[in-house]
Amino acid sequence: MDRIAITGGAQLNGVIPVSGAKNSAIKLMAASLLTDEPLRLTNMPRLADTRFLGKLLTRLGVSVTESDGPDGQQTILHAPEITSGFAPYDLVRQMRASFNVLGPLVARSGQAKVSLPGGCTIGARPVDLHLQALEALGAKIDLHEGYVYAQAPRGLKGAEISFPIVSVGATEHAMLAAVLADGVTVIRNAACEPELVDLQECLNAMGAKVEGAGTPTVTITGVARLKGATHSVIPDRIEMGTYAVAAAMAGGEVRLTNARPELIESLSVKLEEAGATVVRTEDGVIVKRNGSRLNAVDIETAPFPGFATDLQAQFMALMTTANGESHIRETIFENRFMHAPELMRLGADISVHGGEARVRGVAQLEGAEVMATDLRASVSLVIAGLVARGETVVSRIYHLDRGFERLEEKLGACGAQVRRIKGDGEPEL
Ligand code: EPZ
Repeated sequence: MDRIAITGGAQLNGVIPVSGAKNSAIKLMAASLLTDEPLRLTNMPRLADTRFLGKLLTRLGVSVTESDGPDGQQTILHAPEITSGFAPYDLVRQMRASFNVLGPLVARSGQAKVSLPGGCTIGARPVDLHLQALEALGAKIDLHEGYVYAQAPRGLKGAEISFPIVSVGATEHAMLAAVLADGVTVIRNAACEPELVDLQECLNAMGAKVEGAGTPTVTITGVARLKGATHSVIPDRIEMGTYAVAAAMAGGEVRLTNARPELIESLSVKLEEAGATVVRTEDGVIVKRNGSRLNAVDIETAPFPGFATDLQAQFMALMTTANGESHIRETIFENRFMHAPELMRLGADISVHGGEARVRGVAQLEGAEVMATDLRASVSLVIAGLVARGETVVSRIYHLDRGFERLEEKLGACGAQVRRIKGDGEPEL
């Protein structure tokens, strides 16, 4: 399998265009199941996860065509009819968001059989709230042998859905199902992440009537059918935040474009508190750090607009060389510190107690062989490698390929010494 080697020490200077958001693109792709007309998604990232979902959608009857369109990378998804309502274990297991095909399948064709996604390395990640939402909309749900059987032969019905905790995936899933339900659905305690607003915009362009995404109450007035549309995927705030942290770590000056500064405001404030300069621009941010060592600052992850859990690993990497002691509290997932022992292999001083990590900044990291454990953890190791003395080699980077488009090229264009070592096809133990 491929690995990535980083030779530390180079500053980053240059421009990085931010790609479309993975975590939005994969939900928008699922929306193609809701109409028999083509959905054209532009600003599409080309990632293992989007390819992967494309494979599942193809199996369900969607033709998925990737190309370079007049406005850049696009994917056209077209489901004249749903040819199968079955999403098997081997396809759902590999990517949890595949589970979100369940709602659209039931909404459009009245039935579906979709594998439960199971846990993953960052936590148990149940889907009880997804199922509660679909049941509230009138779907009959049965669980057998690891599969969810959902039926609504006479269609879904608008309902009140009140989530006990904030869930991005369950809110999106409820929206994707309710757009074709009969009557009005009100989702309370909805997640407010920008990807929800993006989903609302895409669904409304398809003829849906969704209001309130981005606030805790989303109201959906069901319509009988949806049509095709063209929609541009929102910029990837996690990719943007990752490169902002990389610039603060390595020093230099990096301009992030094709994005929106407000998408990472909670991170920008922390970067400034640590001593980096962040200039908000019309289409992104400029992050600068010249010379002086950063100060340790504390963070606590929270739903948007709080500090994103998907940027926690990267920020921990940043704090490994800051001056002082930083406390990092993870409140969204119960097991999201797997990057800590890997960062320690590079010489970081970190101790983890339950949901809190204490990072004592060291003057210098040392290159080493490390292993990626999940998507965001893997990029935190690359960030640490940017300043570690000598060479850092990150293995299992298939995690990285799930969510970062052309990472070596983007960092390399700013002067980082990053190269991919092609694997021999043998799995890593
Ligand atoms: C989305 O996951 C993102 N994934 C995650 O990014 C992100 O970390 C997370 O939102 C939080 O922002 C995608 O969009 C594909 P949740 P999601 O439902 O929707 C609990 C990445 O690296 N919960 O908001 O699965 C859950 O266990 C990924 O790109 C239930 O208890 O997250 C967690 O503790 C990782 N029951 C909390 O809610 C449920 O039915 C929030 O999870 C659903 C969730």
